Amino acid sequence: MTRVFVLTNNKGGVGKSTSATNIALGMVGMFRRLGAPNSRVLLIDTDSQAHATLVTTGKNNYGANESLYAVLTAEREKASQLLLDIVQPSMWDADLHVLPASPLLEAAERELFGAAGAPYRLADPLNQVAGEYGAIVIDTRPSFSLLTEAALISSTDAIIPVEPRYLETVGLMSVISKITAIRDGWRHPSLHVSGIIVTKMDARIRGHNHLLDQLKQHPTLGKLLLGVIPANEAVSYAHVNHQSIFAYAPQSAASKAYAQLLSTLVRSMAKEHA
Ligand SMILES: Nc1ncnc2c1ncn2[C@@H]1O[C@H](COP(=O)(O)OP(=O)(O)O)[C@@H](O)[C@H]1O
Ligand SMILES: [Mg+2]
Repeated sequence: MTRVFVLTNNKGGVGKSTSATNIALGMVGMFRRLGAPNSRVLLIDTDSQAHATLVTTGKNNYGANESLYAVLTAEREKASQLLLDIVQPSMWDADLHVLPASPLLEAAERELFGAAGAPYRLADPLNQVAGEYGAIVIDTRPSFSLLTEAALISSTDAIIPVEPRYLETVGLMSVISKITAIRDGWRHPSLHVSGIIVTKMDARIRGHNHLLDQLKQHPTLGKLLLGVIPANEAVSYAHVNHQSIFAYAPQSAASKAYAQLLSTLVRSMAKEHA
């Protein structure tokens, strides 16, 4: 079964899109180095702001027929073929493909509300084409909207990026309960919280260190810590240049931290497949 990773947190600016894009590209590289049979990775952008789409494809104004919008509003039997037709090549790597977001997704959210099978309109077609990819990574918008629900229902692994500030750890528990509610309440037993990434960590700030320690000691959250990404301005410059952190600043602290996070993720994938 292809693993589907969703980056989610109802807070904005915590590094969801940065993590989704760099993890997706990093997985292509990992799969290649490990000689995996399929190194293609699909990045799905479910946020109408389309940041992940912009940095990976250079464009953020995809229309109704060339974005996720079309898949969500398609007739049931046509949705999976449409998904494959719409997928774009990325500028980052030939094996990194992108299902683009569109500003129209904002409207789709309202249009789909109450439509038949609305929460499954991504999961069902995706299930049929997932075998084309070695892994799938989904970026979400900063809210528990219908589209975020659809993204969670499509996923096997939820990854929660969080900034090292006190209130956000409190918020973490509510994100985790939301994921648990999706798993228990919908037809989707395989979704689990695979981990937390602490982003924009500044070891010079006492509060940050304090929070990280608290997180590590927490009985549930501590076990979920997957990695720590330092605050590093190379990340912002990479964004502006529409590049991955690996290509823009391979020697930067953030690039090394994302590389380490990827080994952890890929090791956990191998373990579950063994
Ligand atoms: N490790 C980091 N160090 C410095 N800036 C970062 C880091 N991660 C993300 N950023 C910046 O923070 C902002 C929000 O990140 P983004 O990934 O778009 O968050 P989200 O998708 O959760 O809203 C962006 O401007 C991004 O460049
Ligand atoms: Mg984002």
